[in-house]
Amino acid sequence: MPRLFHRLAFSGATGATGDAVHGVLRHNARMNDHEARSRPIGVFDSGVGGLTVVKALREALPHEDLVYLGDTARLPYGTKSAVSISRYACQATVHLQKQGIKLLVVACNTASAVALEALRQQMRPLPVIGVVEPGAKAAVATGLGGAHLVLATEATVRLGAYHDAIKAQDAGADVRELACELLVSLAEEGWTDGAIATGIVTRYLQPIVDASYQPDCVILGCTHFPLLREVIAGVIGGGTVVVDSASTTAEFARHVLADAGLANASSAAGSLRLLATDGATRFSRVGGRFLGERLAASDIEIVDL
Ligand code: DGL
Repeated sequence: MPRLFHRLAFSGATGATGDAVHGVLRHNARMNDHEARSRPIGVFDSGVGGLTVVKALREALPHEDLVYLGDTARLPYGTKSAVSISRYACQATVHLQKQGIKLLVVACNTASAVALEALRQQMRPLPVIGVVEPGAKAAVATGLGGAHLVLATEATVRLGAYHDAIKAQDAGADVRELACELLVSLAEEGWTDGAIATGIVTRYLQPIVDASYQPDCVILGCTHFPLLREVIAGVIGGGTVVVDSASTTAEFARHVLADAGLANASSAAGSLRLLATDGATRFSRVGGRFLGERLAASDIEIVDL
């Protein structure tokens, strides 16, 4: 893809990101170029769900070092107030700033919906990417003027973040949002198929199905929902396309780094550091499923924000 890709495709998101990228260029002029490029990308989520985004980032950016922070002590964010979510997200970002990151990826949909602008201010002049704009882009790419159903947490739905992001890219789109809080617990528990998962997904989607509303696209607007993709697709049926933001976010990150002159020049495989605010054993057990590889408790560093 040409470098213009993210400027055009993410035009709704690039006001702040574009400013930040130019800030980075000025900032880099004062820094050793190699040192700036070698810094890790910081990825933040309320827990382990953002490891789905890490998985996509590793595929898109195999030479980048990643440092992931999961705020497991305060999960879930999705049922909390905007004030608390913002405070938690800012504290997590301070911790990642201390690790010397060159880019922040907010992998949590809820934190992206609530706190993205505050985090951009905090990280200035370095760039910050959320997952809502890329998720909206993935939805709009399925067809202009489409009917979109967003499944997300209570806080994300309350703020209408996906609604606004999709409408900004396609004014003719029809967007409905549905809070499906219990799906977070289902995914954490590993109950992602079979009768229980199907029953709970059906309970959430039944009103939609009963109203004969057949969306063109279902957006998995929560880090945990990609694990339930098959069940959701089965319940919604028809020709509905199911999208999530992980791969679009990773692609966006690749373009932001390239535009800012911050892509790692190394040809060595990138490293992954995993930080959490609580529960290394649970993090490794549950997080391994999201990352798609086995983790040991000793792989996780417990930190205090
Ligand atoms: N990471 C959150 C999100 O993507 C889901 C879990 C939570 O509620 O903290 O919205």
